[in-house]
Amino acid sequence: MGYEKYVAEIIRLKEKRKAVLLAHNYQRPEIQDIADFVGDSLELSLCAAQTEAETIVFCGVDFMAETAAILNPDKRVLIPDKNAVCPMAAMLPGELVDLYRERHPDARVVLYINTLAEAKARCDAVCTSANSAEIISRMDSETVLFGPDWNLTQYAKSHTNKTVLPIPKFGFCPVHMLFDAEAISQLKVSHPAAEVLAHPECSPEVCAVADFVGSTSKMFRRAAVSKAKEFIVATEVGLLHRLRRERPNVVFIPAYNEAVCAHMKLHTLEKLYLSLRDMRFEVKVPPKITASARDAVDFMLGTRETLS
Ligand code: 13P
Ligand code: SF4
Repeated sequence: MGYEKYVAEIIRLKEKRKAVLLAHNYQRPEIQDIADFVGDSLELSLCAAQTEAETIVFCGVDFMAETAAILNPDKRVLIPDKNAVCPMAAMLPGELVDLYRERHPDARVVLYINTLAEAKARCDAVCTSANSAEIISRMDSETVLFGPDWNLTQYAKSHTNKTVLPIPKFGFCPVHMLFDAEAISQLKVSHPAAEVLAHPECSPEVCAVADFVGSTSKMFRRAAVSKAKEFIVATEVGLLHRLRRERPNVVFIPAYNEAVCAHMKLHTLEKLYLSLRDMRFEVKVPPKITASARDAVDFMLGTRETLS
């Protein structure tokens, strides 16, 4: 089947299955172009929480589809390739959260949405890269345990008055670790008018040379309103497609060409078609985990006001 036939079939099956197609900003261009909604982790969670569709097809990584399943225990959540997992999420197994809690009994635990459902079930609140400092500030303890991303911990820490301790000691995103402050500074020399946009999963050194730091959709919104005609972009290269589509006359330069999240790229049109045709692969979160993780996600989304 060729490109156009796949697209036509996906649109037909989406209607037949009463499905909504959600895609993260890092997805392949052809997936972004066909999605009902493209966004960052926070926006995709909000979409999943509000959708009336019967089926959610999630082109993103495991923790994103699991969050959609936690928010929709009565709906079908499908992921076109079940190997699309976030390696950083796996750096904080649930048992490790228990261990850190025992060591810091008075601390609240805020976890990045890039975590396994079993870890979310053990935390007080979830956050994304768009609202980490805001959620940490809402905790009623002086000390907050935060993880798994060490870089995001440093970023959030510098934007709150809390004592923020990283759990585990050094969780990281293998893609955002590739950016180098020195290389970006050199790029700035050859593009002096360029604005540098960086994701807070980048190192503090990279964030320090950036003009703007924010989640993928915050970077997108910044580029949409900025007067700059050139941008250096320090995040996974998938975002560049969305940026270039939004502002075709602006130059977007990847801060590092090979910053590719291979897991995000596992979804293809062919797999998306098969997913809708055969209703595969269903993302299931055990009911007990769903119930506790839901409280932590609801706190972030504002649908739950109090901490338990
Ligand atoms: P966003 O919160 O910006 O969507 O980022 C998620 C992510 O996985 C970044 O690597
Ligand atoms: Fe995980 Fe990094 Fe890929 Fe985001 S870019 S999904 S944090 S591995």
